[in-house]
Amino acid sequence: MVIINYDNKYKQDIPNLFTNTIHKTCNKDYTKEQLNAWANPNIDYDSWEKRLDKTKPYLAVIDDIIVGFTEFYDDYIDCFYIHDAYQGQGVGKALMTYIINETREKNIKTIRVNASITAKSFFESFGFVQIKKNSVERNNQVLVNYSLELEVNN
Ligand SMILES: CC(C)(COP(=O)(O)OP(=O)(O)OC[C@H]1O[C@@H](n2cnc3c(N)ncnc32)[C@H](O)[C@@H]1OP(=O)(O)O)[C@@H](O)C(=O)NCCC(=O)NCCS
Repeated sequence: MVIINYDNKYKQDIPNLFTNTIHKTCNKDYTKEQLNAWANPNIDYDSWEKRLDKTKPYLAVIDDIIVGFTEFYDDYIDCFYIHDAYQGQGVGKALMTYIINETREKNIKTIRVNASITAKSFFESFGFVQIKKNSVERNNQVLVNYSLELEVNN
């Protein structure tokens, strides 16, 4: 596995992974209606392309397959998703380690994330602590997530 900077040739694989992971992995914690509000199965590739050109996610790649990605800018993890067929194999850990190493180079002191119910314990296993619980309205559904923070480089 390698971790690479964003390459526009993956502009469709990333939203595909995002949508697939949410529907296959987060379905134990959210209803079908909530999942559809979070990740509409009718993917808007044009708006994703614009978003990715700005956020430039880090990509975990195996044999030219995107197996995970994370958007990390300033001190904030926006997206963090691993392909459902590649979970439990250290991909998430590799991406998180990559981010933590980035904070050293950029002298960032705190990493922030709004974690899903599903991913919360993963982040906590790296030392993230809960700051608050949120109820976020999206497309007429209310979804719970958690603001977590990790102190680094102190
Ligand atoms: C949570 C997620 C990122 C984990 O990725 P992964 O590649 O399966 O994780 P890894 O295999 O690298 O596991 C790393 C460590 O975290 C632990 N871990 C993995 N998933 C976990 C979870 N859901 N809860 C607690 N610990 C978890 C593993 O046991 C492992 O521990 P170890 O190093 O002691 O063996 C992945 O399941 C996922 O994409 N979930 C959906 C993501 C999501 O909801 N994102 C919302 C935005 S934050």
